[in-house]
Amino acid sequence: MKRDAAVHTADVPKLKSGDEKERYVQDMFSAIAPQYDRLNAILSFSQHKRWRRLAVRLAGVKSGDRCLDVCTGTGDFAMDLSAVVGRDGKVIGSDFCEPMIRNGLSKVAQTQGGPIKMMVANAEKLPYPSAAFDVVTVGFGIRNVARIQDAVSEMARVTADGGRVVILEFNRPPKRWYRPFVDFYLFRILPSIGGLFSRKEAYTYLPESMKTFVSREELTAVMERAGLTDIQVRDLNLGTVCIHSGTRRTNYPVGGGAS
Ligand SMILES: C[S@@+](CC[C@H](N)C(=O)[O-])C[C@H]1O[C@@H](n2cnc3c(N)ncnc32)[C@H](O)[C@@H]1O
Repeated sequence: MKRDAAVHTADVPKLKSGDEKERYVQDMFSAIAPQYDRLNAILSFSQHKRWRRLAVRLAGVKSGDRCLDVCTGTGDFAMDLSAVVGRDGKVIGSDFCEPMIRNGLSKVAQTQGGPIKMMVANAEKLPYPSAAFDVVTVGFGIRNVARIQDAVSEMARVTADGGRVVILEFNRPPKRWYRPFVDFYLFRILPSIGGLFSRKEAYTYLPESMKTFVSREELTAVMERAGLTDIQVRDLNLGTVCIHSGTRRTNYPVGGGAS
């Protein structure tokens, strides 16, 4: 396979799919859970907080809303939702990797906003009734799920008619002059820093998974098939981060469009 000049990593993990990917991702996040928050701050220069807060704004979250954050990891997105919904609202953060949830528990307990419940659950098979939430979010998680359409369809199913689904995710930047520099950071610098503090393989997986992740247009189509409409796409950080937001269609058949 031909690669960009800046993209050379000897130890790029072989990308997996289906059940194999699910197990790989679960094991990987279990291994890096204790260092996850620290590395997030270092590798994004703490920008990840700003991206999540913008996603919360685009979701139109209001005081008193019921929110779900899937693939919540250590619960940062859930905390941003809780700050807006306040004491009258409710927030659930769910993730299938128990060590990630466990590492976030003391942090989310300190929320100044509404109470947050952290739960172990697979985004592809959510244990919640249909139409139970006003807003459902996912931050840097959808790229990691094994079956994206199933997860997005589940997110739409548990969203009430007219509610919002928001997906914050890394993406490949457009083909502009700065792309080789972004690639150099992603494929060379990021794995080296990741390797200093945590398991290097996890931080070579990250840029590789960005490369193979669905395009903005494909993700929009996935959301439409899940019963979402009025899809807005917003690029951030030179197009390396992208927010997709959509509204749950009224009376769309539950599970409609899921593959
Ligand atoms: C990069 S972390 C993002 C964590 C958090 N949302 C954030 O913004 O920092 C990706 C998370 O997705 C979770 N994940 C991946 N596939 C999942 C699935 N099918 N169901 C639930 N969680 C999943 C992983 O366990 C991991 O905690």
